[in-house]
Order: sequence, then C-alpha cells, then structure tokens
Amino acid sequence: MDKKETVSLLLYDVALEHSAIVQYLYHIFLISDGNITSEIEEIARQEMRHLKWFAQKVVQLGGQVVLDRLEDMIVIGGPDWADMLSKDVWAEEEAIRIYSQQLEMVKDDSVKKLLERVIKDEQDHKVEFSELMEKVKEGLVCIPLEEQRPDPRTLEVLNKFLKEEYQTIINYLYQFFHSKNCDYKDIMLDLAIESMVHMGKLGEKIGELGGMPNIQRVDFSPKPLKSLQEQVKAEILYEQETGGEYGKEIAKIDDPEIKRLFTFIENQEEYHKQKLVEFFKLMNRLTVGDLRKKDA
Ligand SMILES: [Fe+2]
Ligand SMILES: [Fe+2]
Ligand SMILES: [Fe+2]
Ligand SMILES: [Fe+2]
Repeated sequence: MDKKETVSLLLYDVALEHSAIVQYLYHIFLISDGNITSEIEEIARQEMRHLKWFAQKVVQLGGQVVLDRLEDMIVIGGPDWADMLSKDVWAEEEAIRIYSQQLEMVKDDSVKKLLERVIKDEQDHKVEFSELMEKVKEGLVCIPLEEQRPDPRTLEVLNKFLKEEYQTIINYLYQFFHSKNCDYKDIMLDLAIESMVHMGKLGEKIGELGGMPNIQRVDFSPKPLKSLQEQVKAEILYEQETGGEYGKEIAKIDDPEIKRLFTFIENQEEYHKQKLVEFFKLMNRLTVGDLRKKDA
C-alpha cells in the first residue's frame, strides 16, 4: 500500500468518525436523560479526537484533508432510546470491523499504531453503549411520555442556526488542519470548539421541545480565499453577521430560555469577532514591519 492509498484510507476514516459524531449528536439531542447523554457526549468527544488524529496523519503524509461524511453510516434510531443505542452499538461494531481490516493492509508503522489505539477505544465504546442499552431495556431509566407540540417557527429558527453552526465548525476545522500560521490555527480550533458548544446547546433545545434536530449535509469543501488576510476579513464579517442574526431573533422569540440561549451565543460571536479583529491587526502590523525590514 503506497502513500496515496494510505491517505485515501485515512480520509475514509475521517469521514467514518465524522459520521459517528453526527449520529451520536442526534441521539444526545433526542435522549432526555442527562446520565445517558453525558456518557454519549464523552464518547463523541473521543470520536472528535479520532477524527483529528486521522486528519493530522493525512496532512503529515502530504495529503489534503476533506471533512466529508458517509451518509449510509449515519443511522438514527428511534423512537425509543434502546433502539437509538442499539444503532450506536452497531456503529462501533462497524468501526472495529473496518479498522481491523485496514490494520492488515496498512504498511506505515505510525498509522498501524494509530489504528490499534482507535480499535481499542471503539471496543470500549461498544461495551459502554451495550451497557447503556441494557439499562434502558431493564427500565432503569424512566422515559418521559408527555406529548409536546413545539412551535414550528421556533424549531425552524433553531434548526437554521444548528445548520449554520455545523457549517462554521467544518469551515474552521478546515482552516485548522490546513493553515500554516500557528496563531491562526489556534484561534480556528478555539472558535470551532465554541461553535460545537453552540451547536450542542441548540440541538439539545430542539430535542427538549420535542422537535427533530436536522443535521443535514453542509458544504464540506470550503474554498479557501487567496490570502490569509482575505480569509480573516471574511470571517470577521461572518461572525458579525451571525451575531446579528441571533440578536434579531432575541427580539422576536417569546420563550425566555431560548432568549437566554441566544444572548449567550450572541455574546460569544461578538468575542469571536474581537479575537479575529485582534489577529487581523497584529497580522497587518507584522506585515508592515517585515516590509520595513526589507527596505532597510
Ligand atoms: Fe472513533
Ligand atoms: Fe467509538
Ligand atoms: Fe456560533
Ligand atoms: Fe462564532
């Protein structure tokens, strides 16, 4: 197996981890028992680390990271929780099967080590999901039965923001994997993580209201702009607009909890903008400084 084949295998793994994350997010949003969701969240965070490790190996091998996902590997269970968890057990079994096959094919030693490590994690996840499923089946968790009729406009707004945050995560992670500027990479990772928090809170709210979160496909291959300057400028504008959109909705929505959530997110978007503005200024100062040095 040559380098190119190894890269495409790793890109498949990036997509597989991405799919698992999306599936687990659905279940986190739809299950309303905090003890169960906190365990799924922990597993999802581990899948994010797997995704990051596979993506970094792609870059190390000289490849280009694509943050695609595999639609037929995203299986959302329901309506009961035991069924959702059985789909998660299945996802882990598939991951173990696929990674074990790859382990036989790969020649690169460090990729082998990574696969071995990830397989161990997935085996552990499989046990955890099975145990959670048994708990639910034995009736050790009570499932609320109240019927809710959520306001369709509120759900629509929440899902619109959910999709935007998802796109933001993809865009910022893309910059994180590809940029060569360390300060910028660091900002992008921070903002991606905070966007994950936003996405999480929006999705949980949708589930809480009895709605169906919609984590649909977004554009997975953002087109990078010509220069870092252009890129950062566009992001400043984007953060400003997003903050503004949340601000507008705060005035329209009645639910005090959603108002609070949007205010919380709006403030963070404002801070994201500040961080980028700061970086933009610093970057310009450095560029001017460099030019002066060249002149001297
Ligand atoms: Fe994983
Ligand atoms: Fe896993
Ligand atoms: Fe956000
Ligand atoms: Fe933001």
